[in-house]
Amino acid sequence: TPAEADEFWLFGYGSLIWKPPPHYDQRIPGWVTGYVRRFWQDHRGTPEAPGRVVTLIERSYWRQLTDHHDSAPERVWGVAYRIAPDRVDEVKEYLDIREINGYTIHYTPFHPAVSSSSPGLDPVDPSVMPPHHGPIRTLVYIGTPDNEQFVGPQDPQALAEHIWRSEGPSGLNRDYLLELEKALDALSPDSGDEHVTDLSNRVRAIASREEEQQKLKQNT
Ligand code: BEZ
Repeated sequence: TPAEADEFWLFGYGSLIWKPPPHYDQRIPGWVTGYVRRFWQDHRGTPEAPGRVVTLIERSYWRQLTDHHDSAPERVWGVAYRIAPDRVDEVKEYLDIREINGYTIHYTPFHPAVSSSSPGLDPVDPSVMPPHHGPIRTLVYIGTPDNEQFVGPQDPQALAEHIWRSEGPSGLNRDYLLELEKALDALSPDSGDEHVTDLSNRVRAIASREEEQQKLKQNT
């Protein structure tokens, strides 16, 4: 409908999943295709320990690269937010200031999760909100190799160690990773992402290793 064409929807696939943008009036779990989610953006923290955050890479570009994680789900799960119509200008300005740094803007079709297959998991109450059918045009921030903060393929263990060590004004990089894993798990039974899970497992293994070393130190 013409009204829908004027709506502003934003797709969150990183911290936006658990830290919503201001002034949203609808939040819908679902997925997009044609992209791959990777911890390939240098973003958080100090220049000494900037940390890594996720970005979306075009699948066609990703296919040309040599990635240690050489498979990726067809669907990138996340959340679409509708911004209240009278707040769109304000939110666009806020997002540009907060997020455009190092990212490129795309518009892509978002597919709402089919809630009937996961009763109880859908936070949208159908009695309050009419269900959405078919794709919604959403704004999405993606990483391109010409962005200054684009990192590209990394050895998973080296990446996990980097995330483990990094801390910045917005917190511990490992908390961002583990929050992302948890937030993805909560979206749908199908929303897991092996890249995120593998890095989380590696970070948990580093945590146990460090704990063991602390214990050994205390005993000597
Ligand atoms: C996200 O949380 O989905 C996100 C936010 C800003 C830039 C890229 C992704």
